Amino acid sequence: MLHTKGLKEGELFFRQWLRSPKSVGSILPSSRALCRTIASEVRWHPGAYVVELGGGTGVITKALIERGVPPERLVVVELDDALFAYLRQQFPESPVVQGDAARLGEILAGLGVDRVSSVVSGLPMLNMPESFQRRVVEESFRAMGEDGIMLQYTYLPRCPIPADKFGLEAELVGFVWRNLPPATVWRLRRKG
Ligand SMILES: C[S@@+](CC[C@H](N)C(=O)[O-])C[C@H]1O[C@@H](n2cnc3c(N)ncnc32)[C@H](O)[C@@H]1O
Repeated sequence: MLHTKGLKEGELFFRQWLRSPKSVGSILPSSRALCRTIASEVRWHPGAYVVELGGGTGVITKALIERGVPPERLVVVELDDALFAYLRQQFPESPVVQGDAARLGEILAGLGVDRVSSVVSGLPMLNMPESFQRRVVEESFRAMGEDGIMLQYTYLPRCPIPADKFGLEAELVGFVWRNLPPATVWRLRRKG
């Protein structure tokens, strides 16, 4: 059953990648090992929300919920229409929004969300111009308090965002071999 679901998800993801390779950014959803590594770094406290940017088929969403983020406190933003429809169906308790991560402030205001503790980004930042990266980072940190953290994964051994230029510190918090391709996980926070 789970296996069939995995295949269905993989097929949907691959189909959407064929349609928009730059935006979907990978031919396969993240592995279980990568999702667990990311989820283990997320901070959530009662009253706050966690935001996930670029939900895809929801593999990280699922790991975040398993890790203890209440589904109703997990905002998922996805641009692609078919992936959005799939996420909505899979996570009926979560606020899943079809929209552009670069407009996160507007999206959160529309949901009445005013406290965010962590932002998890699955966005393919390496395919995006620096102006987009800056906008996503600014919107994310504006939504979070002083101690907010953003998590970003990539297939490179370096952070895909020019953290220093954006006034942030980037720390490598995970290296996951069991992903295709192997991935690194970065924690970004405001410079101290
Ligand atoms: C590399 S996939 C990651 C999917 C999933 N999080 C995972 O780890 O398997 C990137 C996702 O970001 C979405 N995406 C790309 N640009 C976006 C944007 N501007 N706003 C919101 N989602 C976007 C894509 O449609 C795709 O689902």
